[in-house]
Amino acid sequence: MTSEIETLTEDQARAALAELARTLADANTAYHGADSPDLSDAEYDQLKRRNAEIEARFPHLKRDDSPSEQVGAAPADGFSKVTHAVAMLSLSNAFEAEDVAEFDGRIRKYLGLGDAAPLRYTAEPKIDGLSLSLRYEKGALVQAATRGDGAVGENVTANARTIDDIPARIHGAPDLLEVRGEVYMSHEDFEALNERQVAAGAKSFANPRNAAAGSLRQLDASITKSRPLRFFAYAWGALSAPLADTQMGAIERLSELGFSTNPLTVLCNGPQEMLDHYAKIEAQRATLGYDIDGVVYKVDDLALQERLGFRSTTPRWATAHKFPAELAWTRLEGIDIQVGRTGALSPVARLHPVTVGGVVVSNATLHNEDYIKGFDSKGAEIRGGKDIRVGDWVQVYRAGDVIPKVADVDLSKRPGDSAAYVFPQTCPECGSDAVREPGDAVRRCTGGLICPAQAVEKLKHFVSRAAFDIEGLGAKQVEQFYTDGWIAEPADIFTLRERYGSGVQQLKNREGWGEKSATNLFQAIEDKRNIALSRLLFSLGIRHVGESASNLIALHYGSWDDLAAAMDAAADQSGPAWEDLIGIDGVGAVMAGSLVKAFAQERERASIDRLVNHLTVAEAKRADTSGSPVAGKTVVFTGSLEKMTRAEAKARAERLGAKVAGSVSARTDILVAGPGAGSKAKKAAELGIETLDEDGWLALIGAA
Ligand code: IVH
Repeated sequence: MTSEIETLTEDQARAALAELARTLADANTAYHGADSPDLSDAEYDQLKRRNAEIEARFPHLKRDDSPSEQVGAAPADGFSKVTHAVAMLSLSNAFEAEDVAEFDGRIRKYLGLGDAAPLRYTAEPKIDGLSLSLRYEKGALVQAATRGDGAVGENVTANARTIDDIPARIHGAPDLLEVRGEVYMSHEDFEALNERQVAAGAKSFANPRNAAAGSLRQLDASITKSRPLRFFAYAWGALSAPLADTQMGAIERLSELGFSTNPLTVLCNGPQEMLDHYAKIEAQRATLGYDIDGVVYKVDDLALQERLGFRSTTPRWATAHKFPAELAWTRLEGIDIQVGRTGALSPVARLHPVTVGGVVVSNATLHNEDYIKGFDSKGAEIRGGKDIRVGDWVQVYRAGDVIPKVADVDLSKRPGDSAAYVFPQTCPECGSDAVREPGDAVRRCTGGLICPAQAVEKLKHFVSRAAFDIEGLGAKQVEQFYTDGWIAEPADIFTLRERYGSGVQQLKNREGWGEKSATNLFQAIEDKRNIALSRLLFSLGIRHVGESASNLIALHYGSWDDLAAAMDAAADQSGPAWEDLIGIDGVGAVMAGSLVKAFAQERERASIDRLVNHLTVAEAKRADTSGSPVAGKTVVFTGSLEKMTRAEAKARAERLGAKVAGSVSARTDILVAGPGAGSKAKKAAELGIETLDEDGWLALIGAA
């Protein structure tokens, strides 16, 4: 962990996580949605890593919309959607040698393996393309889908059929086999394609990855056919029979079935051999003829992979060891201030465009006012205390996918007449005071909903994918409607049609709208009058209340009326309703405080009530784990477990719908006590709680 993170106060960490969540979400949309990222891979990774490090130090501050829980972006319009039978996940990242050792250490710990126990890994290049899932039934290719958001991707079957590396038929495979891998374009083919594009007066691609993505995601498959795409197979999804016992064996099997697999895939006995192979691949990187951005390590034994399982978006049994960031110097042409949904003023560097590792960069984050001055949020110097001024030569740092950062300043090139940057004390959008609370790194506009920037950002959040997700009403349209005075708050969306008489007639005359899109929009709005409680709560954009917290809170209260009544009863932040709220697992006092304040704040509440008047809010119900004998039960583990570690036991119990608690109380349903159980077993006996040994527990959950 870097020292800067060690010095963060809790408030600073919270602010930093909030900013990271927003920045990374924007970057994701730009990266996955539009095939033209304005940020680099390395910078994106760097921000994600900072996010993970802050979360590691302040686990209780982890946001519900934490970037560590998210992969990719939703499918673009135009392709039909495919729900993946097995989710397409992302990989955790390692950057330094220590991270690789830690990866190995975490796995050993989870599996309860000693340091000396043999444990093998595969190591292979991480291809910088886009992932694709190919479904074969009885040997025939029946479907090809992009990753999308990991759960739902785009159906690109016709396009995939045009790729030479993808066989239309395979022989000797299991009846059902989903082959997963990376579509990419070689350097040579990329250069030639760009030459053809330029000659034809068409747009050239920034890098091979964008070219591959742009070529695969063509609505007209004949265009894909004209583009030289390739495919490496490295993983699989749904299967009717296992391919092998090991990762390496499975890759060999895929190769026998006719897929291209990467020749630099090897087996390693532990971190040292993994690092050696990393160095070998890095040395060959420039001459491979295609882009790679790191090395992927995977536990070789598939039975162990199965036991290790997944965190929410990444497998525990694999990680991507990324290559270091790339750097470039350019001139800082200006500093703009962006105002976010919660009023945060974020400085953005406007740069003279510069190519960093194949991507043109013209914006970079400057984090906050202290960062510009040359200090971290604790007051310690960064960049040797050099401030950043408009007109400076700055070094832009790009690591991985997205948002670049200004890493350094060349003082020898500073113009003689330059002046230190003065951070605004008022909101550039609405003129309200911008205030920095003690201990907060971020200055915030105090204008609330009178601030157009906050209002627009709130509206954008409201219509976003995890919120109301109104088809045809994205960030761009919301901005247009807001500017024209058609909508000022979420409730206005639901009166658009009636306020504009024959809404279609008016809307279709506007630029960018036709009769069909206008009709579709009004229908899409109608469709969202019925909304799930958790979505409604998330869509309100209340500070600290992210997607998964909204879920937990919705499940706890069940209905909108009960939720609103509970918030009113908890308004003074004490008493039983307040205790009940902060008693929800995953809801802390800060989030709870922000939530009850939003409901108590007169203007905000009136706006919420106006919205809810237009809606039918569906009650929240728990997921169906009805087949599970432990669904809804509270389980406590104590003593030592012999067949699995505590972490594995907990993850398994939770998958079956049980709640795992740390201490025994009257609310405990089952105590699982291994050898050495002490006071918890005693207390459970006193309370008459059912107590099982490890085998008894395994028998109960049907895994003995
Ligand atoms: S394994 C469950 N192996 O990296 C994990 N992924 O950051 C399955 N990628 O979405 C992925 N080369 O698009 C794996 N040799 C490789 C890879 C690789 C590139 C991509 C893939 C994945 C992303 C995760």
